[in-house]
Amino acid sequence: MPLNLAVIASGDGSNFQAIAEKARAGFLDAAIRVLVCNRPGAGVIARAEALGIPCVLLDHEDTSLYPRRADFDRAMVDAIRQHGADWIALAGYMRLLTPEFLTAFPGRVLNIHPALLPSFPGVRGCADALGYGVKIAGATVHFVEEKTDSGPVIIQAAIPISSGDTLNSITQRIHALEHRIYPQALQWIASGRLARLGENDRVITIRPDAQLRGREEPGCLISPPLEQGF
Ligand code: GRF
Repeated sequence: MPLNLAVIASGDGSNFQAIAEKARAGFLDAAIRVLVCNRPGAGVIARAEALGIPCVLLDHEDTSLYPRRADFDRAMVDAIRQHGADWIALAGYMRLLTPEFLTAFPGRVLNIHPALLPSFPGVRGCADALGYGVKIAGATVHFVEEKTDSGPVIIQAAIPISSGDTLNSITQRIHALEHRIYPQALQWIASGRLARLGENDRVITIRPDAQLRGREEPGCLISPPLEQGF
């Protein structure tokens, strides 16, 4: 059974597209049942149209329809259920989810963040890291908990920063890695290979470890290593 996925996005949608393409190519055993977008005119909408993926646009600024944040999240839950999805991938969704949303899909909401969490949560993760002067930047795919950009980590990719780098060059390199680690994390879930260990089940491992064929990656470190096709 493929993973029945809903993607929620607010922006350009390059991660949405990367997930869709890995599914189309057969590397990711998932079907994107619906894209939910909260910003009229966002680039991700045109990408969904081009890919033939149903898109539901819910404008969170329409307070006549959604007087409270919980009303908006309830509308998202309804749209997702109506389309038959029960796993959620946040891909550049620039709002906090309410507890009501998270309890509708317990333990089934993922996010990608352009920094090595738990450092530099928030909407400016990459810029904040560079501004701080970190020497290693990166991206994280994690399960979503109520607090901003928090929750058990599934996979991280890290890159060294050199003196010639700019926010633009780092952002581009991180984006390219995001397009690989997000579909990979979803595929580990689709194939039932995630296990939770440690105190409060917060430590994620991939089983069986022996089948993880790590590859040398020039210029970056990805852990756990990506498999063939990602
Ligand atoms: C990504 O950098 C992701 O880490 C962050 O928002 C950005 C979305 O980019 N959460 P895109 O819209 O997928 O191109």
